[in-house]
Amino acid sequence: MVTVIVGTQWGDEGKGKVIDYLARDCDIVARYQGGANAGHTVIANGKKYIFHLIPSGILYPNKICILGNGLVVDPVALLSEISGLKKRGINLNRRFFVSENAHLTLPYHKLLDQIEDKKRGKGKLGTTGRGIGTTYTDKYARLGIRIVDFLNEKTFREKLRISLKLKNYLLKKYYEEKIYNLEKISGEYQAYRKEIKKYVIDTSFYLNQAIKKGKKILAEGAQGTFLDIDFGTYPYVTASNPIAGGACTGLGIGPTKINKVIGIAKAYTTRVGKGPFPTEFKDEFGEKIRKLGNEFGATTGRPRRCGWLDAVLVKQAGIINGLSNLAITKLDVLNSLKKIRIAVGYHYRGRRLNQFPNSFEFFSQVKPIYEEMPGWQKDLSGIKRYQDLPGKAKDYLKRIEDLTEVKISLISTGPVRQDTILL
Ligand code: IMP
Repeated sequence: MVTVIVGTQWGDEGKGKVIDYLARDCDIVARYQGGANAGHTVIANGKKYIFHLIPSGILYPNKICILGNGLVVDPVALLSEISGLKKRGINLNRRFFVSENAHLTLPYHKLLDQIEDKKRGKGKLGTTGRGIGTTYTDKYARLGIRIVDFLNEKTFREKLRISLKLKNYLLKKYYEEKIYNLEKISGEYQAYRKEIKKYVIDTSFYLNQAIKKGKKILAEGAQGTFLDIDFGTYPYVTASNPIAGGACTGLGIGPTKINKVIGIAKAYTTRVGKGPFPTEFKDEFGEKIRKLGNEFGATTGRPRRCGWLDAVLVKQAGIINGLSNLAITKLDVLNSLKKIRIAVGYHYRGRRLNQFPNSFEFFSQVKPIYEEMPGWQKDLSGIKRYQDLPGKAKDYLKRIEDLTEVKISLISTGPVRQDTILL
């Protein structure tokens, strides 16, 4: 049984909490794409954890956690996360694994990511600067270094030598920046190799064996549908496939093995970094929601842009991901509002659009068409059963189901595990 968890907006939908909650009934949590650009926040047993690479399931002592082949792995970020978890008493031995086929993020990827985004000037994407796009670029240019290459010192040195020849040329001649030294990197990375080696396996084989044995697997997507390289608001996207289809290529499991896809949607919308966002609050209301929802990037600390729920986007996410269900998060953030709006369509130069337009030109000019609903103006904390929700909150949830054509199966009413309603 494989369930895919996917973001239906621009990331930061609260996937960390939902995965942590659902992991309770699973054997394995496997991440399938992205890298240390993600920031999944989990509050468990009174402690706050932020995960950039390691799946949130690691907080359960008996769960297996996997980083699939679709990831780009920065050993510095990974080891710092491992050491942070160890310090907090979490044991990773024999229950945390990294794919041999995942790609390695090296120091020049991070530097080039930052330089290149800056050089884009007005077209800046606002990347996380974690070397994500540049590592995936090397993967597709057949210049990447996989974890399996990294494990063999000779292979790593040889691949690094070729890569540095090209990167240093670019850095020195074109960007007039510092260049990297082969000996220095290979020396530094020798220590990382020793640390990481014990976690490296053929994760696709492992997962397929586990599926055969009837184990329950959660495939964890990072970022969200509209940051997807193919289906997002290109070019303001990340460099991987967060959509549900990415779970197959990013884990090496066949589509016939996926039983369920759960889309995570925040009760409103946020976005970090640049790019069009039709329902964005342009006034002080954005600041209010940012404060209420603590909407600051878990990776970069950047303030998140906030706006109303865009049902056109979530509906499209339902289609692209073949969603079985929706999980609505952060419903409590809207507790105090008198009126709540939902975008149900767009206007584009006097024409009504009911569908997400793939054209960036269109999408950056659309004006949302809103429906307004009364807020419930009640505290939702402590509510564990759907029937105990205020009627107006139920109406809001029902409207989301109708507009997106996807049934809601989970509602999150607060940051801690217990603030969850299962339907
Ligand atoms: P990159 O993934 O660092 O290349 O950044 C590309 C875009 O994706 C930027 O707008 C980032 O802010 C956004 N992004 C990347 N990772 C996340 C995430 O985990 N949550 C929200 N936005 C993200």
